Amino acid sequence: MKKVALAFSGGLDTTVCVSLLQEEYGYDEIVGVTVDVGQPDSEFVEAEETAAAHDLDLHVVDARSEFAALCFDSVCANATYQGYPLGTALARPIIASSIVDVAQAEGCDALAHGCTGKGNDQLRFEAVWRNTNMEVIAPVRELELTREWEQEYAAEQNLPVQAGNDGVWSIDTNLWSRSIEGGKLENPEHVPNENIYEWTAGPTDRPSTEQITIGFEDGIPVSLNGQHHEPVELITQLNKQAGTHGVGRTDMMEDRMLGLKVRENYEHPGATTLLTAHEALEQLVLTKDERDFKRHVDAEWAQKAYEGLINHPLLTALEGFIQETQSRVTGNVTIKFEGGRARPVSRESPYAAYSADAASFNTSSVGSITQQDATGIAKYHGFQGRLATTIESDTE
Ligand code: ARG
Repeated sequence: MKKVALAFSGGLDTTVCVSLLQEEYGYDEIVGVTVDVGQPDSEFVEAEETAAAHDLDLHVVDARSEFAALCFDSVCANATYQGYPLGTALARPIIASSIVDVAQAEGCDALAHGCTGKGNDQLRFEAVWRNTNMEVIAPVRELELTREWEQEYAAEQNLPVQAGNDGVWSIDTNLWSRSIEGGKLENPEHVPNENIYEWTAGPTDRPSTEQITIGFEDGIPVSLNGQHHEPVELITQLNKQAGTHGVGRTDMMEDRMLGLKVRENYEHPGATTLLTAHEALEQLVLTKDERDFKRHVDAEWAQKAYEGLINHPLLTALEGFIQETQSRVTGNVTIKFEGGRARPVSRESPYAAYSADAASFNTSSVGSITQQDATGIAKYHGFQGRLATTIESDTE
């Protein structure tokens, strides 16, 4: 008896994989695994229905808390990749390792996914899976399937595939972001219709403005308007609230790992709000030197997270630096939702590296330091530049 665990969503790719794993790969038993990282309920209904029609043994694993915790690590790293807050990328290692757990408990010999050979997800899944002794199978990539072929095959085999949005776009939704790609959107010139968006309101459907306050402890968002919220709850609530204000839309050309560019559309109202608030608090509490250096650390963190390598030693090392800085990122930030944006309008922290007295126009000295103490520094400032330009004009 050969047994395989399949990453199963109930969508076209994974549904076709169920038949192919039996017919082309000779597996007798297939365990479908759907991992909950905050997809809408309809996706679970679709997965359950498709699994039932297939007689597929389906396991649903709730990984929302674990995923939300990783999203909050990404907030501490101010993490975006080319402007996108990494929802799909962060979810993949969590999904992949949840599937390994089920596969091990079920005594599977192999792990399978329905990713194509063009995208990032195959790499993210396999980075986790190839760390096990199980065989890795990627039917769509190995058999070089196209979406059209899959559609015909599904019809021929009478596979229960729901067309969703008429199969027009490929959508990936979780707690942190909603991604829309494919179809007409593949043409970078095409201006998307408002109807591709589900989480964010268009300009004519938004309430005027609203202010909210987010509380942070050690860099982690913990409260909304003074009320404590668990991570999953907080993200869900902010997706709704910031979404009604149209916050967090990205329309971009994204450089995938393989080098291909892809046109992506994303919605991420909660992520944008939390990332914006977190950065506003860091501005208040971190020194300029820390901020300058952290920008590089953050960018490297985001790069590794985009690659799905959340256990990479580099990421762990970067994490050490980030954690060290976050011990002062405690306080509150008020955000104003306005014109489709989340704008920080107030921040406060017991760790503010800021002295109103020192910066004020109304006081003349800072402790024992007087304004006149700056005179010497002002004389030296720009010294090298002056020398260099004088030499230049002398030798002309
Ligand atoms: N390009 C993005 C990433 O690699 C998201 C892809 C989402 N997939 C989808 N079917 N819409 O992180």
